[in-house]
Amino acid sequence: MSYVVITGASAGIGETFARALAAENQNLILVARREERLNELAAELKQQHGVDAVVLKADLAEPTGAEALARQIVEGGWGLSGLINNAGFGDRGAFAELSLERQLSMIQVNVTSLVALTWQLLPHLRQNAGSFIINVASTAAFQAGPNMAIYYATKAFVLSFSEALHEELRNSGVAVSALCPGATDSEFAQEAHMTDTKLFKAGTMTAEAVVKKSLAQRRRAIVIPGLRNVLMIWSGKLSPRAVTRKLAGWLQA
Ligand SMILES: NC(=O)c1ccc[n+]([C@@H]2O[C@H](COP(=O)([O-])OP(=O)(O)OC[C@H]3O[C@@H](n4cnc5c(N)ncnc54)[C@H](OP(=O)(O)O)[C@@H]3O)[C@@H](O)[C@H]2O)c1
Repeated sequence: MSYVVITGASAGIGETFARALAAENQNLILVARREERLNELAAELKQQHGVDAVVLKADLAEPTGAEALARQIVEGGWGLSGLINNAGFGDRGAFAELSLERQLSMIQVNVTSLVALTWQLLPHLRQNAGSFIINVASTAAFQAGPNMAIYYATKAFVLSFSEALHEELRNSGVAVSALCPGATDSEFAQEAHMTDTKLFKAGTMTAEAVVKKSLAQRRRAIVIPGLRNVLMIWSGKLSPRAVTRKLAGWLQA
């Protein structure tokens, strides 16, 4: 019996990953702070699909959060066949005006905890041939983002780290994929104070479409769901950096 760990499974893309994997008959370890939501989801998935769904409450903004979670997972003795590092958040505003505490917390959740969990669970993933890691980055990973400077920088880290790890683990049986969604329907925009930005007003993808693409291509180094997002990234590659960063700033001014 093997399990896939999903961080940030209480809402949005993480919850959608849980539903899609349960429908594939996959046992799950669901992680987030909002335990009641996880309990409800676990009960529903067990009933609908007959899978096992373990709930582990964790605050990945705490410096020791990821380490404590990894210890719980290892001690639980669940065999692992996947890790989806999905928990994350953003916030809109100028670097100097957003609180330092919130921005450091963003680095902790989006970057430090992701790295710690990956490092601690990797030996266990290696024991199952065909296992996978999906790190949720963003289209934000491909350029600097004025008015969300730290968020964009965290996602650039996630993309770079995931691509490097994909190559390092190429012959290990563990596939590593960076998922790079654009604006997606979830609680993210509300949490990041972005609902009224041009970026979100221009339209969003459903979390279902994002997850479907990611799971279908889970062994690919980089997955960009949605033609509009692919075109945006490719046109960005052909443009000077000064243009792409100004455009990103304008989209979330
Ligand atoms: N939606 C978008 O437009 C979009 C686009 C590109 C990338 N992404 C990325 O996609 C990922 C998922 O976001 P989403 O859109 O699904 O947003 P969401 O609906 O707000 O879900 C975020 C998830 O992260 C969890 N989380 C946040 N802080 C946490 C903490 N300190 N400890 C543990 N879990 C925490 C939340 O759970 P609790 O609050 O219960 O802890 C929740 O389950 C994020 O990494 C985000 O950056 C989103």
